[in-house]
Amino acid sequence: MRAGIWGMGKYVPEHVVTNIDLEKKVDTNDEWIRTRTGIEERRIASDDIDTSHMSYFASVDALEKAGIHPEELDMIIVATVTPDQTFPSVSSMLQQQLGAKKAAAMDVSAACAGFMYGLVTGKQFIESGTYKHVLVVGTEKLSKIVDWNDRNTAVLFGDGSGAAVLGPVEGDNGILSFELGSDGAGGNHIRMEDHLMMNGREVFKFAVRQMGESALNVVHKAGLVKEDVDFLVPHQANIRIMEAARQRLDLPIERMSKTVDRYGNTSSASIPLSLVHELENGKIKDGDVVVLVGFGAGLVWGAVAMKWGK
Ligand code: UT7
Repeated sequence: MRAGIWGMGKYVPEHVVTNIDLEKKVDTNDEWIRTRTGIEERRIASDDIDTSHMSYFASVDALEKAGIHPEELDMIIVATVTPDQTFPSVSSMLQQQLGAKKAAAMDVSAACAGFMYGLVTGKQFIESGTYKHVLVVGTEKLSKIVDWNDRNTAVLFGDGSGAAVLGPVEGDNGILSFELGSDGAGGNHIRMEDHLMMNGREVFKFAVRQMGESALNVVHKAGLVKEDVDFLVPHQANIRIMEAARQRLDLPIERMSKTVDRYGNTSSASIPLSLVHELENGKIKDGDVVVLVGFGAGLVWGAVAMKWGK
């Protein structure tokens, strides 16, 4: 018996901040941002909306799509580096807000690979027969930790939340293989001081290599070849990094998810937000082999190959 995704949901704040808006705040320009990152606009949450609120909205959507009542949830895993506060965890807040009375709750800290870590953790509980329904949320309010005067980072990030209800699935559907990893030696390259600090060029080099490698590894671990892959959903950090992963799998451009243009880099939310986007567009269908791959501060990475369907 394998674990798979029963239903997904998303939430993004209404407020759109375009590259042109940012030109007025920092020394940057639309052309530089578009060509170097692929980002055109991002969503920024208002002061009264924090990470837990966005998580709640995305989770209600996911539960509805999965046809599951909150009281049926056995566990809630929230991947975030921008919790409302250090503790209580966002997952415990969410458990209370949803009324998920019997659910265990924990947060996972693995930055932009957080959703991958959450997904793989949830899978273990389901496939061991311990739990039946696990809610995994990737959620960030990065706008509260970004230095809005630093053009190296201010143009990159956005806010949002994506959620998935995991459960046992039939036949050969579900999560086929995974890879998780960490290289703490690169910890200095993205770190939290007073604000988010990043050595973009070093992260870029790591990401270009690791994304393609991990994507290919999970394909092989699943006993597949790259020609079997129907769709790639990479972490939406930078279109140039995503392109490197796509080329490594020899996939045509229309079979890679791209939401970085409209949401920017939403860290742990980027992969679930992209999945929901592609499900809504009908690009991902039952029976498709889908590869998810992410990387981020740690440095960490994670990838999953799955066959879509319940
Ligand atoms: O989710 C994981 C989190 N992090 C990432 O994924 C980031 C990975 N890295 C990247 O995506 C890229 O390295 C960046 C988009 C951050 C930067 O792109 P780059 O092609 O590596 O540019 P660079 O850092 O080498 O900078 C090139 C030039 C510099 O000017 P000089 O020194 O050549 O005169 C920068 O000062 O671009 C300048 N620059 C900007 N110019 C206009 C840096 N940021 C900006 C900006 N607007 N916002």
